[in-house]
Amino acid sequence: MSARLDVDRLLDQSSIIVCCGAGGVGKTTTSAALALRAAERGRTECVLTIDPARPLAQAMGQTELDNTPRTVADVDPAAGGSLDAMMLDMKRTFDEIVLAHADPQRAEQILANPFYVSLSSSFAGTQEYMAMEKLGQLRELGTWDLIVVDTPPSRSALDFLDAPQRLGRFLDGRMIRMLLAPAKAGGRGVMKVFSVGINVFTSVLTRVLGAQALKDLSLFVASLETMFGGFRERADHTYRLLKEDGTAFVVIAVPERDALREAAYFVDRLASERMPLAGLVLNRVHTSAASGLSVERSLAAAESLDKSGDSPLTAAVLRIHAERLATAARDRRMAERFTASHPDVPVVQVAAQASDVHDLAGLRRIGGELANGPEATAPVRPAGKRRAG
Ligand SMILES: Nc1ncnc2c1ncn2[C@@H]1O[C@H](COP(=O)(O)OP(=O)(O)O)[C@@H](O)[C@H]1O
Ligand SMILES: [Mg+2]
Repeated sequence: MSARLDVDRLLDQSSIIVCCGAGGVGKTTTSAALALRAAERGRTECVLTIDPARPLAQAMGQTELDNTPRTVADVDPAAGGSLDAMMLDMKRTFDEIVLAHADPQRAEQILANPFYVSLSSSFAGTQEYMAMEKLGQLRELGTWDLIVVDTPPSRSALDFLDAPQRLGRFLDGRMIRMLLAPAKAGGRGVMKVFSVGINVFTSVLTRVLGAQALKDLSLFVASLETMFGGFRERADHTYRLLKEDGTAFVVIAVPERDALREAAYFVDRLASERMPLAGLVLNRVHTSAASGLSVERSLAAAESLDKSGDSPLTAAVLRIHAERLATAARDRRMAERFTASHPDVPVVQVAAQASDVHDLAGLRRIGGELANGPEATAPVRPAGKRRAG
């Protein structure tokens, strides 16, 4: 059996916590719950969320996507902490980089460039890249002693680690260099500066994209290059941030085959990259109060009630009970399979709540379970940090 993940220690000792996992497992919820708990334990905390459901965003005071951390109201200040939250707007982060690095006229050209528009809002990996970029920026401000980072709703958790470098490679890559050539040659016709082999390549591209688009693209990339001085270097830089002391990854999964497989890949990958894994949060676990009434006996009883026609309600309740027991047993088997293959990974379980988690009270409850396991409800604050009055 794996060790229990000590969430409170993690919250007290980390400077960056990155929440990763497959889509829909509870990354956004978990990061918000961790952040709230950290703040109520006395830390000066900022949470960077990516795609919170609207009600959750509202509960955290995030009514508009403007890329600015805002203080969350109604956080218990007794331990001396605070919580700021910000939703990442990918396009806006991109725009801000352009505005910060290019002169106003150039910036305007870039922002209006069709390639820029599609790259900044839809290019695969941009969101992951921007999340890291933003993390680096927040970190540099030095305002917070802990930053909790939610990760984008990628299909695969590994995208978060791979996409920034993939994007860097793309932007620094060979194809881009070829496209850059005409712009570098001072805007002479695209065709003139290419050798025969490349000519074929560009003529294909021109056919596919159109001459104007190709010109747009090469101008765009040229301006990006002067602005950033190497995307890949930037990606490498943010990547290094993730290996620093004080950074911890929390992998989130639900007790289902695909999510756990994804979590296992991710855990293995972190190990091979020497990135600090804190542990696994097994979210939306179904627990059953220990009961002497087994699945088989409940179902048998329900069946005999059906036959007699007596008490259909009791039969229905028995069936629900049996179903819950079976679900809980399945969740347990799933969890055991993961811990058997990864015995060194600390785990904590969070119960499937009766409804979606959309307010601070709900986040607090999840935070309590993260720290103390499902069902338990222990005080949030460490005894030593409690203030008089
Ligand atoms: N333990 C839980 N019990 C019940 N609902 C949950 C739990 N954790 C998350 N949810 C709900 O599941 C949905 C997806 O969660 P979310 O945190 O947005 O996942 P992700 O960010 O990984 O895509 C949300 O509606 C959220 O309220
Ligand atoms: Mg999310």
